[in-house]
Amino acid sequence: MTPDLFADTPPGWHEPLGEGAMVLRGFALPFEAALLAALDTVIAAAPFRHLITPGGFKMSVAMSNCGTLGWVGDRRGYRYDPRDPDSGLPWPAMPAAFARLALAAAQVAGFDGFTPEACLINRYDIGARLSLHQDKDELDYAHPIVSVSLGLPAVFLFGGFERSDPQQRVPVVHGDVVVWGGPSRLRYHGVLPVKPGSHPLLGERRINLTFRKVR
Ligand code: SIN
Ligand code: FE2
Repeated sequence: MTPDLFADTPPGWHEPLGEGAMVLRGFALPFEAALLAALDTVIAAAPFRHLITPGGFKMSVAMSNCGTLGWVGDRRGYRYDPRDPDSGLPWPAMPAAFARLALAAAQVAGFDGFTPEACLINRYDIGARLSLHQDKDELDYAHPIVSVSLGLPAVFLFGGFERSDPQQRVPVVHGDVVVWGGPSRLRYHGVLPVKPGSHPLLGERRINLTFRKVR
């Protein structure tokens, strides 16, 4: 199917991606106003920055965090840190709307009681991409990953347990939520370069919120 067909998919549509993995089309739309207001507050306190990978490359995606733990990386590697290394301050608190959305999306996907400590906020400017990776810096894989797409559309790659496994290309648009957990928790995933465009609310960018229970 094409992204345009998916964009027409009615909110509330749940699309399976594998065992414990699904796309909840439009699930974040009822939270939109609260999410965008809270996002501004978080980013004012902890501005976006481009991390340097352990290999010395600047990531094309700009990142920030909220919650009691934030995902950070530098030449020494990746870790969860209670403080923003740029300011030395604790990360901004998880906004209530963020926590409610994450809990509700996980619940619908079959994962009860999801109370993430960490929300990674990714900003994809035009052309930014995220190469295939597994989310495995968490101590406990019992909880799912909840990933919320806002702004410009993108293609989310959902692979298998080996980097070389074939990937599903999943078009995601503003308001879509992808949840993967249980047997799918450690599947490789990534995002293709974001195509030029402008979103009515967010302009020339895609924002992704990734919720994780770390410990
Ligand atoms: C991530 O894997 O951390 C983000 C995925 C996305 O931006 O959709
Ligand atoms: Fe990830």
